[in-house]
Amino acid sequence: MAEALENLHVAIIMDGNGRWAKKRALPRVVGHKAGGKALKKIITHAAKNHLKVLSIYAFSAENWLRPKEEVAFLMQLLDEYIIDEWASITENNIKFLVSGNISLIPEKTRDALIKLMEETKNNTGLILNMALSYSGQDEILDCVKKISTFVLNNEISIENITKETIVDNLYNKELPEVDLLIRTSGEKRISNFMLWRISYAELYFTDVLWPDFDENEFDNAIKEYKKRVRRFGKTDEQLKS
Ligand code: FPP
Repeated sequence: MAEALENLHVAIIMDGNGRWAKKRALPRVVGHKAGGKALKKIITHAAKNHLKVLSIYAFSAENWLRPKEEVAFLMQLLDEYIIDEWASITENNIKFLVSGNISLIPEKTRDALIKLMEETKNNTGLILNMALSYSGQDEILDCVKKISTFVLNNEISIENITKETIVDNLYNKELPEVDLLIRTSGEKRISNFMLWRISYAELYFTDVLWPDFDENEFDNAIKEYKKRVRRFGKTDEQLKS
């Protein structure tokens, strides 16, 4: 598997924690806790198999609208997650990145996130991009505002704006295009995730609820991805020549 993964950017919409808990007549937050455990397994598996980039949708900008007890629980879970996984992330040579508006994340957790990014910035293994307080539309909006400022300051002319200019001004410009987007729980939506970078991503939907998504499920998604023919707008004949 290792060789097959080292150039890939896999993004995951980890959906179904609430339904997983409901099926067991448990509170939703128990589902999130189980989701956190599934996440740990998938990160370890991805790092061990030399995946290049793993982007995970941990908390969307829209998730702030959930009941305040659930939001508080998720923030607490995030805080514990960073503390618990710190050693594993650094020891496994993982480079940790965050995409999103982290100014809204509680200060103590935000400081920890920034410190972890700083401490792992020279790591050369898996790039783990955690989307937190993230909105794909806001990412593009922020990018437009940055480029507009460059134009106003005469640092770039409108004619010289290219796709590269846009990529350079997205969150974490080093992130490549997404190759495979996985969404669990049977929902077939993009939900505002990584809008610019999923332009040619292969989409993989599974009915498995996120807390039940394990290494085997991840490998199944990769196997399916490997069967897809990525034409990027070209014909089959062009790809063969
Ligand atoms: C979607 O399930 C999941 C989330 C909104 C949060 C994802 C969080 C985790 C996987 C836990 C790890 C979290 C952190 C912060 C490290 P849902 O609640 O929308 O499920 P439902 O659609 O079945 O209700």
